[in-house]
Parts: sequence; C-alpha cells; structure tokens
Amino acid sequence: MLKPAATPGDTSWFVHDRFGMFIHWGIYALAARHEWVKSYERINDEEYQKYFDHFDPDLYDPRQWAKIAREAGMKYFVITTKHHDGFCLWDTRYTDYKATNTPYGQDLLRPMIEAFRAEGLKVGLYHSLIDWHHPEFPIDIIHPLRDHPEALEWNKNRDITKYAEYLHNQTRELLTEYGKIDIIWFDYSYPHREYRGVKGKGRADWQSEKLIAMARELQPGIIVNNRLDLPAEYPADVTTPEQYQPTEWVTKNGEPVVWEACQTFSGSWGYHRDEASWKSPQQLVRMLVNTVSCGGNLLMNVGPTARGVFDFRAIQALETYRDWMKWHARSIYGCTQSEYSAPPDVRYTQNYETNRLYAHLFAWPFKHLHLPGLAGKVAYAQLLSDASEIRFHKRQEQSEHNNMAAATPEGALTLELPVAQPQSVVVPVVELFLE
Ligand code: GLC
Repeated sequence: MLKPAATPGDTSWFVHDRFGMFIHWGIYALAARHEWVKSYERINDEEYQKYFDHFDPDLYDPRQWAKIAREAGMKYFVITTKHHDGFCLWDTRYTDYKATNTPYGQDLLRPMIEAFRAEGLKVGLYHSLIDWHHPEFPIDIIHPLRDHPEALEWNKNRDITKYAEYLHNQTRELLTEYGKIDIIWFDYSYPHREYRGVKGKGRADWQSEKLIAMARELQPGIIVNNRLDLPAEYPADVTTPEQYQPTEWVTKNGEPVVWEACQTFSGSWGYHRDEASWKSPQQLVRMLVNTVSCGGNLLMNVGPTARGVFDFRAIQALETYRDWMKWHARSIYGCTQSEYSAPPDVRYTQNYETNRLYAHLFAWPFKHLHLPGLAGKVAYAQLLSDASEIRFHKRQEQSEHNNMAAATPEGALTLELPVAQPQSVVVPVVELFLE
C-alpha cells in the first residue's frame, strides 16, 4: 500500500475521510459573475463598494448548510474567511472591511463553524494571502489596479511588510478565537510572475516560514496546504491540484504526497448566476471515485448566493452525492489506491483494514467482467448498494464446441453480472472481500 512520508500536521483523519466541502462566500456573490470579478474587470475600491453596501444575506442559516454537507457525505469543510478581494467574514479587529459593518451586521464565521462542528464535520479555514483591498498591498499582475497609469507611482507608498503584519495578525486571530481548527488553507503564491516590472508574490512577501510556524504552534496537528511557496525545511501537509483531475497518485520530487483535488460544480468558486458549465451527476460521482482511486481527497466547492443559500443547482449536485454516498460510502471512507490494476471502465479503491476491494463500474458490461490478477484472491462478492451476491468463476477455457463460454484470461477472475443494471445508481460498485 502506498503511503506518503509523514509531515508535521495530522493527516490521519484526513486521508480516511476523503470528502470535504469547500465554501467560497463573500461580497462577490452579489456581482454573481466570479469571485475574481474585481480583478477581471479592473474594478477599483469605490466601484466595488456597492457590493459591501448591499450585502445582506437575510436567509443565511449555517445549520442548513452543515446538514446538507453532512448528508452529502462530506466530513470536513473549508470556508473562505477572506478571499482575494479582502472582505472578511468574521469580526476581526484589524480592519473595518468585514461582515459586521455591512447591512447584515453580524459575524458570519462563528455560527458557521459552530453549525458544522455540531454536524460532526472538521473545520478548515481558507485564508487569502492576496488582498486587493489592503492599502499596503503592492499592485501586481493580478491586482485590479494593475493597468492604472499611476499604479507604479502608488506602489512607492505601499509597504508589503505592513501588509504581512496584517496577514499574520489576522491568522493569529483566526487560529486562537475559534477553538480547534483542523485545516488552514492559504491561497496563493505567484513569485515567478511579473508585470510592468513588478514581481508576483511569494514566501518573502508573506513571510511564509514564520506564518506556518505560528500556525503549527497555535494549533498543534493542524493541516497546512502547499500554497505558501514554502522552502523544503517547512514541508506542507497537503498538495492541492485544482480544476483538473490527477490520473495517478500526486508526487513531489518523485515521492507520493497527501493530496486533495479541489473542484467546482460549474467553473467559478464564488456564486455565478449565468454559468452554463454545471457538471453532470455522473461527472460528479466519477470525480470523487477517480480521486480516491488515486489516493486523494476531494474538496467540492459550493458558492452560496448573496441571500445566504445554496442555489437550486448546487442543491441538486449535493443531492447527487447524498444519494450515491448513502449506499456507497464504504468504497470511499478509509479507502485508497488499490494494489491491483483495474480493467477498462473500472476504477478500484481498496480498504486495507477491512481487506475489501471496490470495483466502480463506469460502464455496465454485458454479463461478464474479467478482473485481471484476481483469480483465487476473492472470497465473496456483492453489489454494494443492496448486498446482493455477485457470483464469480475461475478460469474457463474457450473451446471449439462451447460457443457460449466466456473465456477468462489467465489469472483473472470473472464476475457474472445481471444483464440489466439492478439499481439505478450513477456509478454501481461491486464489493470484493479479499482472501
Ligand atoms: C485559486 C483562485 C481562487 C480559488 C482557489 C481555490 O487559486 O484564485 O479564486 O479560491 O484557487 O482553490
């Protein structure tokens, strides 16, 4: 069984739980056309202020969110405490640019953390390293003011060390005033980029070594992600591929690492009213299966609306997970990449503790499924959804006079499946009890 080398954070629960909810929520939900709208449309602070002035999520009920997440099978959540636009969900002492000063007038973070904890989910805080509101944050390649004729002039009066102090103060606040925090998810570094002679930002700007040391000191065991541009002496706990699906175990310097794919329902992270690229139920479930079959976690994102709810498309997507996980959670929790190679259209996950192998059928075959290398290795097999027996047989020779024998390749095990897929689930699973 593949096992990444240990890191300072406690990832034991994380690699067991496999499935989490990402939440991107902020005043960009009012624009409803991407959480990067301020940068994409080069909006200055004055123009962006209308979203702050009209932010009033009157239907916000975090207990409802937490319940939906739990029912979808998610075991942890990660909430954007502050995104790149600098707006803070919590009642921070270090800026006025926070939820308590909007028409809504209340801290959004505390009741959310409490609600998710009450549903048994672990708590993760996303925190943007980038800040397009802070006056000391130098204007760079992704900043909304990057093309302003006076940007370079203004930069002369901006001091990144003052911003770094703010970043560290807020991180300390988040990691001391909300009880146990299981994950801190910093986002992100781009030191290699350059625009109009201004460099992107990385570890020297964030003072990443100090920041990660503080996080580990304040919250022993906390999981820290890999977007701080950290040097080798300060290893991250989790690598975070985004917007693409790895097709094998993710490695760093050739070594397998703990990893978590983060994905969206429709493309953007913040609520986007008009996006047409919503993933199908099949894609959603397959992404989860594909992830675990390569030894990773899936952090699936929801962008709540500015009224404080998950919109109907997000609810539908979450119900897809709920309906599938209800019967198939056993092939996800506690599972990882299998030691066996799956045949075409099949994805394996394996639970090494219970010694069971899970075959996820992305296409339902006609009667026979040959599983290479499994001859003599399986004691019992059943359909996971209803625990109905799946019979199997050992090698059968094809002979000239037996035109109806399904020849089993050498070393393979042949499952005998009903012609019609018995229960209509998006991805059926056969549970194999290994010898
Ligand atoms: C990014 C984006 C962003 C999103 C995030 C999630 O790099 O800047 O908007 O929050 O990744 O992984």
